[in-house]
Amino acid sequence: MKPINTVTLKLTFIIYYCQCNFFIMGLRGRVPLWEFEGETLKIDFFIINMLYFSVSRIFNKSQELFRQASCLIPGGVNSPVRAFKAVGGKPLFIDHGKGSRIYDVDGNDYIDYVLSWGPLIIGHAHPEVIEVIKKTAELGTSFGAPTELEIRLAQEIKKAYPSMAMVRAVNSGTEATMSALRAARGFHSLHGGQKRDKIIKFEGCYHGHADGLLSKAGSGLATLGIPDCPGVPQSYASETITVPYNDISAVEAVIKQDGKDIAAVIVEPIAGNMGCVPPKAGFLEGLRRITKQHGIILIFDEVMTGFRAAYGGAQELYGIVPDMTCLGKVIGGGLPVGVYGGSIEIMSNIAPQGSVYQAGTLSGNPLAMAAGLKTLEILNRAGTYDLLENRSKMLEDGLKDAAIRAGAKTKFYRVGTMFCSYFTDHEVSDWESVKTCDTKRFGRYFSLLLENGINIAPSQFEAGFMSTVHSERDIEDTVKACYEALIKSS
Ligand SMILES: Cc1ncc(COP(=O)(O)O)c(C=O)c1O
Repeated sequence: MKPINTVTLKLTFIIYYCQCNFFIMGLRGRVPLWEFEGETLKIDFFIINMLYFSVSRIFNKSQELFRQASCLIPGGVNSPVRAFKAVGGKPLFIDHGKGSRIYDVDGNDYIDYVLSWGPLIIGHAHPEVIEVIKKTAELGTSFGAPTELEIRLAQEIKKAYPSMAMVRAVNSGTEATMSALRAARGFHSLHGGQKRDKIIKFEGCYHGHADGLLSKAGSGLATLGIPDCPGVPQSYASETITVPYNDISAVEAVIKQDGKDIAAVIVEPIAGNMGCVPPKAGFLEGLRRITKQHGIILIFDEVMTGFRAAYGGAQELYGIVPDMTCLGKVIGGGLPVGVYGGSIEIMSNIAPQGSVYQAGTLSGNPLAMAAGLKTLEILNRAGTYDLLENRSKMLEDGLKDAAIRAGAKTKFYRVGTMFCSYFTDHEVSDWESVKTCDTKRFGRYFSLLLENGINIAPSQFEAGFMSTVHSERDIEDTVKACYEALIKSS
């Protein structure tokens, strides 16, 4: 299957033009196709064109919608990485999704490894999730008052994340991290006997787009080549100390110098916003030890890893208990959600129980709570994480083998259902090493995959995601397409 884009449209136009000329000149617009015992079978240009069109993908509607969107929405998209800036081309407009596939407005289908950037761990439009959303919506979409669903989701989260004795629901991962940091700073002001304004974050980790968290914040900004975001006051940015990921001695050095001013260390326990960078042995343990020693609050941003790296997230996988945790993505079942939480000591300072103010008109929205609860219920069924591991491992083995067969220099990393293939022959462990990847080749690889019906994130610096509904056949087709794309992109 070969799709059509502007280049092929131009080519087709040239072919038609030549064909007309052939007819005008009284020649047959034919090319030799097959010679057998002196007979030559010829094929008409028109037939070539018809054959070509019958197997081609057309992106006309997507392109027209993108043109309209670009007049109304900055860059034509409501979140920057969707714009294909890092890989060239124009974004696809999606009509619908089902299971492991998405379908664009031109009717092309793709096996999807973006999964709405992580939330859809049980696939697109899971019938049980859709059913519960419909039923809940019939009762009303929002009340601005508590519902029982909020308690049920809080209970489920606490069961899986015992470190989250108390939680607060918000509407996005950004809100969760932003609010967790306020809670951490508030805790020090109220109970630590001293105001602490500084935080430590890691290069290449993304914690949403709040002021103060955009410094060296991984994929989104790197993809667009934005080093420092205009609009963020210097006074905010200066409260954030950024250190290399996986470098515990860098953390120790900063804490030795500024420890008394540092309220929190926030970390993606598996870095998913610079591809997929696992923590080195001892890194998370080191963070836990040193933050405890200095009374600094350790925040695990598990917006991406929560219920994905394992049911209990990276904290279950690595056996580390943070002081606070941020969740999002999977817990909303595809609807907008975020949750932050921690010990009762910290969380009881949140308004109205305490004086650290944080609020939200749609927070704890019944549709998001219901979709999240149903998703967790499905994930809890026996064998689900074994299935996820098997499928993820199958893809890993297939892609590693494809890279060897294609002679491509790539490094593949995976933790649970998160993975990334880097175009480099160096090991990757932090932002400096990730940055050296061949992003131009990634761009060609991405376009070739898309043309062959495989949707991966349009940036070298993003993780891929596996779901429970990716079939073995999907994975075989993906590996085949990846092999061809590796050969052609070299
Ligand atoms: C680790 C992490 N934290 C926070 C966020 C922000 O979440 P949201 O996009 O829902 O605001 C993201 C989003 O990708 C993320 O990956």
